[in-house]
Amino acid sequence: MNELQFTRHRRLRQNSTLRDLVRETHILIDDLIYPLFVTFGTNKRQPVPSMPGIDQISLDLLKEEMDDINSLGIKAVLLFGIPEKKDSCGSGAYHDHGIVQEATRIIKSEYPHILVIADTCLCEYTDHGHCGVVDNGDVLNDESLDLLVKTAVSQAQAGADIIAPSNMMDGFTTAIRHGLDDAGFSHLPLMSYAVKYASSFYGPFRDAAESTPQFGDRKTYQMDPANRLEALREAQSDVEEGADMLIVKPGMPYLDIIRDVRNEFPIPIIAYNVSGEYSMVKAAAQNGWIDEEKIVMEMLIGMKRAGATMIITYFAKDVAKWLRNGK
Ligand code: PBG
Repeated sequence: MNELQFTRHRRLRQNSTLRDLVRETHILIDDLIYPLFVTFGTNKRQPVPSMPGIDQISLDLLKEEMDDINSLGIKAVLLFGIPEKKDSCGSGAYHDHGIVQEATRIIKSEYPHILVIADTCLCEYTDHGHCGVVDNGDVLNDESLDLLVKTAVSQAQAGADIIAPSNMMDGFTTAIRHGLDDAGFSHLPLMSYAVKYASSFYGPFRDAAESTPQFGDRKTYQMDPANRLEALREAQSDVEEGADMLIVKPGMPYLDIIRDVRNEFPIPIIAYNVSGEYSMVKAAAQNGWIDEEKIVMEMLIGMKRAGATMIITYFAKDVAKWLRNGK
């Protein structure tokens, strides 16, 4: 008699307890970082139309928002500021009483255990919307570094726990590392946006942060989405220059890159589940076309399975509620 030979994979899938036992990847609230858009003025909770559920929040309402974040068990926030006035050199980014600096002080005084991660960039503060200083239509690299160092140091002085430079100027990691060390902040970790692509998935963020470039695009400093080896070069130079952690951004369309960077560099890797990824899911969910909770959890699992240690996501509050209800 001719016996069929095959493997019974289904043995380990036959009930949910067994499936739970053999599951390889989990999403924990500890994995998530929640981005916040803090704005000038008072009594403002300005919904971002392209990002349902996300608001620009004025400093006086920040405590209320932090109460919510804290009660959900979220342990880290990433701060973006929208200043009242923008100028050519983005001076609001490194003002001692800038939006992010003030927001940091408020959060650290109310919730010292919540980690404040400061996004270090100029694009929300420049009138042209680019991430560095502009001359004759060019974004100048070395001239921008001084301003980025000033920004990081003032964020550190305000009490930020982690500095996350997102500007994609060459040398930003070493410049900021030296600047922080010289200012007495050698203990502050750098979470570098080392691998940041020039992505159309940032569209809704630019509405939220009011940082759309007023001319041209960011392709001379952010990476070409078609390139994979370049990601390793970017990651390598950032590690050599002092990055303690590496961000890959966006998340969902770049899972191969997360895996590559995970395999090459034995430090924490962060996936940034960006605004466009968020808005697409929210729009489809509002139409009743998808099951939002299941889709979001599958997306985030995909990023962790690809190798992310943690995830920056606008879904953090939703996930916290789902995880709590699932218990
Ligand atoms: C600032 C910055 C951007 C994002 C994070 N930091 C925008 C950009 O580079 O244009 C995008 C985040 C998102 O889309 O959620 N440079």
